[in-house]
Amino acid sequence: MPKSTVTFMCSECGGESLRWAGQCPHCHAWNTLQEFQVRKATPGRRPPEAPVFAPSRPVRLSDIESEAAPRRRLAWGELNRVLGGGVVPGSVVLVGGEPGVGKSTLLMHAAQQVAAGGGRVIYASGEESPQQVRMRAARLGSVSAEILLLAENDLDTICEAIRAESPQLAIVDSIQTVSDAGFEGSAGSVTQVRESAARLMRLAKEIGVPIFLVGHVTKDGSIAGPRVLEHIVDTVLYLEGDRRQELRILRAMKNRFGSAEEIGVFAMGEAGLEEVPDPSSALLGSAGVSSPGTAVVVVLEGTRPLLIEIQSLVNKVNNNYPPRRIASGMDINRLHMIIAVLEKRASIALGQSDIFVNVAGGIHITEPAADLGLALSIHSNTSDRPLPDGLVVIGELGLAGEVRRVGQLERRLHEAARHGLTRALIPAGAKAGRPAGLEVVEVRSLAEAISAAFLPPIPSGAFIKEAEVSVT
Ligand code: TYD
Ligand code: MG
Repeated sequence: MPKSTVTFMCSECGGESLRWAGQCPHCHAWNTLQEFQVRKATPGRRPPEAPVFAPSRPVRLSDIESEAAPRRRLAWGELNRVLGGGVVPGSVVLVGGEPGVGKSTLLMHAAQQVAAGGGRVIYASGEESPQQVRMRAARLGSVSAEILLLAENDLDTICEAIRAESPQLAIVDSIQTVSDAGFEGSAGSVTQVRESAARLMRLAKEIGVPIFLVGHVTKDGSIAGPRVLEHIVDTVLYLEGDRRQELRILRAMKNRFGSAEEIGVFAMGEAGLEEVPDPSSALLGSAGVSSPGTAVVVVLEGTRPLLIEIQSLVNKVNNNYPPRRIASGMDINRLHMIIAVLEKRASIALGQSDIFVNVAGGIHITEPAADLGLALSIHSNTSDRPLPDGLVVIGELGLAGEVRRVGQLERRLHEAARHGLTRALIPAGAKAGRPAGLEVVEVRSLAEAISAAFLPPIPSGAFIKEAEVSVT
């Protein structure tokens, strides 16, 4: 019996199944299983563009060079940082993100930076006409003769062009619009997306050209998402951000050549993207005015501390409907929990109030280290008292109202001090050096934090070890 050559793969998560089902057994998305052709190996024949790695014999670990080829550094430090120090020759980098977030813009910037250094770039666009791509390039500031545009969907043509030109960088925008005539299915199907990426991967390794692939993320599963490629490519970056807001975060999710913890921050403007080397300043831009309900917290994005403003609006309503709780930029369940802790442990009645919480800049907070800041922000708006200027709040909140320690406290405190904040509430007992210029107040509980937050500034150098407990 010949082995079956057909299996099914989820266009969302890349999970495989032998049978079709309405719901993916792996990620539980609906209607995302697509037929997937499994290529049978032909005995004795190497596939075209097979990787030409060194012949397979053992090599002494000490004989291996730490970096086979130097990385190409781009003009943007933020981009180099996420890539792990620059573009690695022969690597394949997937840049995923929702349509319209700015992937094509980001990669055109990268192309221009390579071109500005005298490198040649092939930009294969299956989505936009050459005129559109030229218009974007002009908007971003330069129309370089070193960027060769290829408006093409056929993978053979793209591969031939890359091989013939052997550029310093090749961009395929997007992987979901190219198709390989040797495989069934239309562009964007799981088979096409995976086989095309695998083929580009072999080509990149063979001729040492770095290739950037754009991958759209869609919610409906109509095209295969970047996740089906994650384990094929070397590096996976996701461009995140709210289209209506300026800030974009490029996040490394996987990186064979660097840390998968890094983020790069950019801002979208009239002339494309700009790197934001100091995101805390950008995020705190409007924090000068202290209004009731605003609190500043420090969250870690990868290894980077970011100062972020949380705003709450608590509005008492006199009707019989359940109150509304709306969180933008954080998990709604975290908000529910903080509200419950405030009611139970700080005796604040919120049962009849709508509560809206917003995180400035379109950032999504996932860290519990922002709990205490969120609680104080809600408390501040409820009591109509602004938190003092220059206050930063750090701490996770437990269900008993205790303030729990958070990781990398010292790094967070330094970031706060660097941006001119003057006072920090931190979990009691946490060990961390105190940066100069920042008064550090240790708090053990929510109640302590509430009273300590509103104390007058203390002379520098003095720490409050035992804050008074007085709940307002
Ligand atoms: P684009 O790079 O085409 O997104 P993607 O390739 O991820 O689909 O970016 C599209 C959005 O970016 C579009 O809404 C317009 C906006 N934009 C600017 O605001 N300024 C600019 O200079 C450019 C080129 C785009
Ligand atoms: Mg695009």
